[in-house]
Amino acid sequence: MDPVKKWTAPKIRALKGGQPFACLTSYDYLTAKIIDESGIPLILVGDTLGMVVLGYENTLPVTMEEMLHHTAAVARGVKSALVVADMPFLSYHVSVQQALENAGRFVKSAGAGAVKIEGGSLRAGTVRALVENGIPVMGHIGLTPQSIRALGGYKIAGKRAVEVRQLIKDAKALEKAGVFSIVLECMPPEAAKKITSELHVPTIGIGAGPQCDGQILVTHDMLGFTSNVSPKFVKRYADLTAQIKGAVAGFKRDVEAKKFPAKEHCY
Ligand code: KIV
Repeated sequence: MDPVKKWTAPKIRALKGGQPFACLTSYDYLTAKIIDESGIPLILVGDTLGMVVLGYENTLPVTMEEMLHHTAAVARGVKSALVVADMPFLSYHVSVQQALENAGRFVKSAGAGAVKIEGGSLRAGTVRALVENGIPVMGHIGLTPQSIRALGGYKIAGKRAVEVRQLIKDAKALEKAGVFSIVLECMPPEAAKKITSELHVPTIGIGAGPQCDGQILVTHDMLGFTSNVSPKFVKRYADLTAQIKGAVAGFKRDVEAKKFPAKEHCY
């Protein structure tokens, strides 16, 4: 992919049907800076923040204040990528006005270039209002973790033909409402392929097979920096947990053996 000085929502939209593109999550300044410098075009400040950084059991307790705090940190580290802020549970459900005010805070004070909201046709009106007021929106369908209470857990979506038809309806409603891309989470590759082929905006898959226009992973998962077992769709590109444990053990050993600090570490 050609280097782009500043990724925007329209530039991400224009990636439809081209070379697959990689996206990652980030929650802090330094990781965002490293990911940005590695040429990733879109960085999502996901509400997975709650699970991988804040230690919550799921994403439901994440607050606007937490998301704003971490989005601002990420935005400070990013020069080129589009920073997308995930709107937390119940920050856009109550009314369109609530959604607009909260999305506006991400763009106005936290430095996000777009927001992401979960849900299909039901959210189309909200998406339209945000887009009409100058806030680019990324959709998210399939497994929507903010609905785990209603779904009865983390369930794979689009296993039956009737579900795939509903997913396509949802994706098209979001597209019509103006989203610049849609995350497809946890569905069979055939379902994601069908949805992708029906849309004019890029799909970004997570656990949705290889036929999406782009792929996204939770950075901590793919770096092996999560304490729990990661889902089947994660490929681990590093084992940071083992590396950190090794480094910490080495430091502890050196201090206890009076090997650190050595001469070269002293003034
Ligand atoms: O919150 C998040 O990290 C996400 C990704 C899983 C797409 O929504």
